[in-house]
Amino acid sequence: MDLGELKDQLTKLGIFEGEEVTFSPLKGGVSSDIYLIQNKGRKYVLKQALSQLRVEEEWLADVTRNLAEQDFIHYVSSFARDNVPEVIHADRQNAFFVMSYYGPPYQNWKAMMMTGQRSPEVTRQVARLLAQIHSHSYLNESVQHQFDHTNLFLELRVEPYILFTGSKYPKWKQIFDTEAERLLEHGEALMHGDFSPKNILVNGEQVLLLDHEVACYGDPAFDIAFMLNHLLLKRLVFSNAEPGDSKLPKVFWDHYFQQLNIKQSIDLKIRTIHLLKMLMLARVDGKSPAEYLDEGHRDWIRKFFTKSIGVNFQDNFDAFLDFFDEHRFDDKN
Ligand SMILES: Nc1ncnc2c1ncn2[C@@H]1O[C@H](COP(=O)(O)OP(=O)(O)O)[C@@H](O)[C@H]1O
Ligand SMILES: [Mg+2]
Repeated sequence: MDLGELKDQLTKLGIFEGEEVTFSPLKGGVSSDIYLIQNKGRKYVLKQALSQLRVEEEWLADVTRNLAEQDFIHYVSSFARDNVPEVIHADRQNAFFVMSYYGPPYQNWKAMMMTGQRSPEVTRQVARLLAQIHSHSYLNESVQHQFDHTNLFLELRVEPYILFTGSKYPKWKQIFDTEAERLLEHGEALMHGDFSPKNILVNGEQVLLLDHEVACYGDPAFDIAFMLNHLLLKRLVFSNAEPGDSKLPKVFWDHYFQQLNIKQSIDLKIRTIHLLKMLMLARVDGKSPAEYLDEGHRDWIRKFFTKSIGVNFQDNFDAFLDFFDEHRFDDKN
């Protein structure tokens, strides 16, 4: 639907008061049209899926991911209502929905971290929320059935991050291919699929999770490793961060596993550490490279991958972090 049609439809539904409604594009999205809607002092956000993402490498995806996002918000609202946006209007046929706008005092967590605000308390809240989503949906057949979006997960995550990265390294390709296959077969809990700081808004210690379109029933290790990857890369880039700030990956890991309510987490830990190494390389040589890494960082990560992939850390994240820190100040050029 184009902007005119969206406006007409929403006006007919009587969502707005009076005639004065403005739609302005919001920045930041690569996979959707996102508009800020203003009407009589009230603000909303409309999100509609695009059929072609705005990144350099060609990367197409099914617009039904907007429906997965609607479903995810609905499901998580049932136990963590304050941690997902409030939906005002949802349209499945046209793959869009309107939610409340969370402007200031809400701040984007990635932007906060980039300006040195790396709060352990916020990190704990983020870990708690993820553990809650995974625990709640753990081995739940009806959730598995509802979020059977392996094709989307393949297209938006496994292909661009895992298979594409592996294809650039004949020596490691088999490891990446095996991991891809494993991820596509593993059904254990509801994954968010894009669990990264840029999709989290923070107000004090309250965290609000956005952008749930890659939600899929799968391996919770993916979300944990995805977030740890961001926290570690920031630790690498901001290596002169104040000492208290620099332990966010450990805070996240410890708190997540404290809060997780499942019988056995050793295998999950082992899978997470293994996947984390691959995701680190994926942010350098995959289809969605991290924009804040310079050539020195990129080389460092490639070398770190080569060193760490042969080391078996088992479920010991502290050992992995020590290994990371031992090499953190190695020459980045
Ligand atoms: N309800 C909202 N309130 C405030 N800002 C929002 C809201 N939804 C999205 N945004 C802003 O728009 C950005 C992109 O939205 P997101 O859902 O992450 O889309 P994409 O899939 O394109 O990344 C977010 O990072 C956030 O800054
Ligand atoms: Mg986003």
